[in-house]
Amino acid sequence: MIVTIANPKGGTGKTTLVRALSGTAAHAGNDVFLIDADSRANTMRWVTMSKQMNVWPERLEAESCLDPNRIYKMALERQHQGKVVFIDIEGTTNENLFAGLYCADIVLIP
Ligand SMILES: Nc1ncnc2c1ncn2[C@@H]1O[C@H](COP(=O)(O)OP(=O)(O)OP(=O)(O)O)[C@@H](O)[C@H]1O
Ligand SMILES: [Mg+2]
Repeated sequence: MIVTIANPKGGTGKTTLVRALSGTAAHAGNDVFLIDADSRANTMRWVTMSKQMNVWPERLEAESCLDPNRIYKMALERQHQGKVVFIDIEGTTNENLFAGLYCADIVLIP
């Protein structure tokens, strides 16, 4: 399953929702893959800090990706591997937003 969290408006709670959902899904026993498609990389900051604090869930993998074709391809590949995929989109309208929308099973718009 691929879940994209998107809203072209800034500061609506996308990254906060991504953190809550991906962490919860991993703690529930799913293999989770998180794609940070925001050039400001707030999600990756959370990843770094959580790893430093030793609270990063074992089943959660995260990667920054700013290329729309790669976002789409990587999401489908990880889904085929049986992972739950979350995509955190930047609060603007760009090609990464469309890549996230087109590959998703579910789009959440906070
Ligand atoms: N560390 C923080 N301290 C205080 N407020 C915060 C912090 N992180 C986020 N916020 C606020 O919480 C709200 C939601 O932030 P969040 O980063 O989840 O939104 P977002 O939709 O991902 O934003 P963006 O479009 O910039 O990616 C925003 O109003 C933001 O200003
Ligand atoms: Mg964000």
